[in-house]
Amino acid sequence: MVHRHNASQEAITARAKARLGGLPLETGANEAQEPPPMSPTRLSLPKDKIKILLLEGISDSAVELLADAGYRSVKRETKALDGAVLARALKGVHVLGIRSRTQVTEEVLAAADRLITIGCFCIGTNQVALEAAASRGIPVFNAPFSNTRSVAELTLGEIIMMMRGIFPKSNAAHRGEWDKSAANSWEVRGKTLGIIGYGNIGAQLSVLAEAFGMRVIYFDHTTKLPHGNAQPMPSLHALLAESDAVTVHVPETAETMGMIGEAAIRAMKPGAVFVNNARGTVVDLEALARAMKDGHVLGAAVDVFPVEPSRNGEAFVSPLQGLPNAILTPHIGGSTGEAQSRIGQEVVRKLIDFSDTAATFGAVNFPQVQLPARPSGARWTHAHRDTPGMLSRINEIFGRRGLNISAQFLQTAGDIGYLVIDSAEARKEAEEILAELRELPGTIRARLIYERH
Ligand code: NAI
Repeated sequence: MVHRHNASQEAITARAKARLGGLPLETGANEAQEPPPMSPTRLSLPKDKIKILLLEGISDSAVELLADAGYRSVKRETKALDGAVLARALKGVHVLGIRSRTQVTEEVLAAADRLITIGCFCIGTNQVALEAAASRGIPVFNAPFSNTRSVAELTLGEIIMMMRGIFPKSNAAHRGEWDKSAANSWEVRGKTLGIIGYGNIGAQLSVLAEAFGMRVIYFDHTTKLPHGNAQPMPSLHALLAESDAVTVHVPETAETMGMIGEAAIRAMKPGAVFVNNARGTVVDLEALARAMKDGHVLGAAVDVFPVEPSRNGEAFVSPLQGLPNAILTPHIGGSTGEAQSRIGQEVVRKLIDFSDTAATFGAVNFPQVQLPARPSGARWTHAHRDTPGMLSRINEIFGRRGLNISAQFLQTAGDIGYLVIDSAEARKEAEEILAELRELPGTIRARLIYERH
């Protein structure tokens, strides 16, 4: 897709001229800055002029995908940047890619004169001042699905290891002890797996577990489509009472904190195994340790803890330490090479979609809109404070010119509205319309995405 415009210079209004030349044919909070260099015939920057800054060693696959899509002006840093250094580095940058360590504060956003979008190449997005970004018309994207499979595979592997008592036997063998026995050693085939939280990971695990011949039941507080032969359970306790293996895949919320406490653990079948690869605060580890010591729980695999060391080498303490059939891992459930590379691709695709077509599908802080790009005509976007009458004021700009709107898609989130407008007819009026959209009271940002003849 081409960000290019061939309209005659005459058609360009004086106001619009002052803003020509940048991908952001846009306005809003960031536009009080010096205008980008003028180009008499182009209204938007060619893709290779769209400045992209990637911090924290984002993967090569991300850069390759950007290059394949025509985005070649990519600057990379291996480390995180902060505060004033980050603010300086963001001058003239249109697209920022970060991982979890770069703090994009309100002050940093205020200094970013050209920023149109941020990609978080990770799952979490709380390192970005999301509301401040939204109020500047900057959608923030992340990669919520990229490590789903990695967590699901690990969970199934751990259930098999625990049901066979592999870790205690392996540790004994390392110590020179021979412990050949079938006691407490079971196949997973025919056993019941209880999945708490049937979202991305829970559902993926469900499919893998059925392939191993397990019966799958799940509990989710919202209605979820069952995969394969999985069966929803009416309550958490109904699930616990039937499961040979229980695994938790809920997020950390007020409702899930301490969800698996003494009562839930004692409601599990004697001899069941338990996995928490979700969030540390969901499970009472003291209660779990007691249940393992008295034999009620046969094994536990835990990847996430209420308090986790902030870096490698820092001391780690847990009540499960020293228990033979406890598998303890340092929050690596989603950490695989494949997940890293998928994170790059997942986020880059969203950034490219946004730049090429204005799609905000998957944005965590912004109204979500997705419209396929059209082979001809023009597309504008308008992010605004959601106030009554905004849509009619926008439509009036088109109606007055006798221009037909061929597609229009409005979504709101919080007090922000995001509108995508297509017209098959608009040609030389495209930038006049843009200038008028910018002038509407309540406008956060307006962009002309493309104009094609
Ligand atoms: P998701 O959002 O797709 O699924 C979560 C599911 O839990 C949803 O279906 C939701 O309806 C359900 N749920 C929420 N509250 C509930 C409640 N009180 N009772 C019953 N069900 C409830 O999330 P996804 O991607 O499957 O991830 C699940 C968890 O795994 C998250 O906490 C995430 O942070 C964690 N995670 C851990 C990783 C690791 O490295 N160990 C890597 C990736 C994710």
